[in-house]
Amino acid sequence: MRDFQVKKMFESIAFSYDFQNSFLSLGRDIQWRRALAKSIHFKSGSLVLDLATGTAEVAVEICRRHAQARVMGLDFSPGMLAIGQKKIRARGLESRVRLLVGDGRGIPFRSGSFDVITMAFGIRNIKERDIVLSEAGRVLKKKGEFFIMEFGRPERSLPGCLYGIYFNRILAPLGNRLSQTDYAYSYLVRSICEFPSDAEFLDEIAAAGFNHTEVKKLTFGIAKIYSGIKDSS
Ligand SMILES: C[S@@+](CC[C@H](N)C(=O)[O-])C[C@H]1O[C@@H](n2cnc3c(N)ncnc32)[C@H](O)[C@@H]1O
Repeated sequence: MRDFQVKKMFESIAFSYDFQNSFLSLGRDIQWRRALAKSIHFKSGSLVLDLATGTAEVAVEICRRHAQARVMGLDFSPGMLAIGQKKIRARGLESRVRLLVGDGRGIPFRSGSFDVITMAFGIRNIKERDIVLSEAGRVLKKKGEFFIMEFGRPERSLPGCLYGIYFNRILAPLGNRLSQTDYAYSYLVRSICEFPSDAEFLDEIAAAGFNHTEVKKLTFGIAKIYSGIKDSS
């Protein structure tokens, strides 16, 4: 899908995005975002950039977990951010979370602005991954942490086979119906299948200037957290 089509898709499913996520993952998405927030080695006064923040679920979770956290959420879909903004207001987080319309391929901040960057379920939607990774490296401070969460393909194990049945036969038709589109979740399944292997993606992260790259599997590899630390040189 071209980027304007991706944007249009998120604009059209924003109204029910949070519900679809929780329903289709049987609530696991909440645990996955908790694991992401828990992975951050937070220092007092740290500033976090949440790329592809969508409805600000990760930003809210980071604030819940880290009392001193301040988060800047960036996303190119105003519709997704509008839902996120309501959430921020409802939770009284206006002084800690700011949401901004912007593109991950050209992050509108100066070099070395952030201590931590998170990006959940966003990178898969962007063809120019190398640009996003290098932009993240640019706006991170030296030794800053970068965490990327993505879905994995079903693995060869018993839980993997069961997930495979759901992934291959149920997820797309059910998700399309819930999102009132005939393509959003077919695209989701296709984009997960097209995403690089763990080793390839870790190489891409390293090529963008990150050290200590690693991947952590969640729920039998249905979700994964890739991470790296910005090279100090
Ligand atoms: C699957 S949603 C993930 C939202 C959120 N991070 C979460 O955990 O639910 C993907 C988000 O990526 C955003 N996105 C896709 N391409 C983008 C780009 N080039 N720049 C900024 N945001 C982008 C979409 O608008 C959408 O909100």
